[in-house]
Amino acid sequence: MKNKATQQGAFSTARSRRWLLATCLSIATQASAFAQTPARSGASIAQQGIAPSVPACASCHGASGEGNTAAGFPRLAGLPSGYLQEQLADFAAGTRQQTVMSTIAKALPMDARESVAKYFASLPAPSGANGAQKPVQANPTGERLALIGNWKEGVPACVSCHGDAGSGVGEQFPALAGQPAAYLRAQLVAWKHGARSPGPLGLMSTIAGKLSDSEADAAADYFASLPAAAHASASPPAQGAAR
Ligand code: HEC
Ligand code: HEC
Repeated sequence: MKNKATQQGAFSTARSRRWLLATCLSIATQASAFAQTPARSGASIAQQGIAPSVPACASCHGASGEGNTAAGFPRLAGLPSGYLQEQLADFAAGTRQQTVMSTIAKALPMDARESVAKYFASLPAPSGANGAQKPVQANPTGERLALIGNWKEGVPACVSCHGDAGSGVGEQFPALAGQPAAYLRAQLVAWKHGARSPGPLGLMSTIAGKLSDSEADAAADYFASLPAAAHASASPPAQGAAR
């Protein structure tokens, strides 16, 4: 009787050990499967990339998506998510030609494009270092194009689409304020040479085609000199003008 109880006890201990082992194994398997599944949140793609093929966006576009003036990498923070997704699609399709970004965009799965675009769109426009590239310098040509346009050539004021002080409007018109001058210039040149997809209604390829090289330079310098986060911090323009 005593013996049987001990046997049963031993048996059930062995069973529970086996059960424990099986459970542990299954948890371990699940855990390693979990570790192998790439984390696909927008934030993690931006900060860590997706090993091994997609580098961290932050390594070029900055820890907060603020861009890198010296290198000419554009800021992504606060740009419309629809616009960012469209650019990634264009890079992947080769209708927007740029070697580095084409390689990265091709390696980004569809769902990752969307989540990383939404992540950058949710970040505030930078107010510091890369917000304003340099002190605003007298640039009458750039200022005239930006605020008035050149109607003789059929060029509307840039701010009529890009918003007051180039701060961006809605899902289709990206901010220009505070972007590196070299980057802005390169985009206008790309449209002239057909290296960037014409975009909505071909608006920008038409406009870029009407700008002389010196006008394109002047407009790029003008918007690069404006603070990216002007609208987050500045007092309403009417008050400023009244003083
Ligand atoms: C090795 C540097 C590098 C890395 C890493 C990088 N980019 Fe870029 N990115 C660039 C450069 C350079 C450009 C400008 C391309 C051009 O001139 O058309 C750019 C442009 C872009 C644009 C277009 C912005 C605009 O205003 O039209 C988007 C969107 C973009 N990158 C998203 C990403 C995302 C998302 C990641 C991470 C998955 C990423 N980039 C990683 C260098 C990089
Ligand atoms: C009629 C509307 C309109 C006007 C006016 C306009 N733009 Fe644009 N611009 C757009 C649209 C739309 C896009 C986005 C294109 C795309 O999705 O590829 C854009 C994009 C840009 C970009 C690329 C930004 C980036 O992040 O890559 C630059 C640079 C630019 N515009 C410069 C200018 C300049 C300079 C002027 C004035 C001379 C101007 N734009 C006037 C509609 C306009």
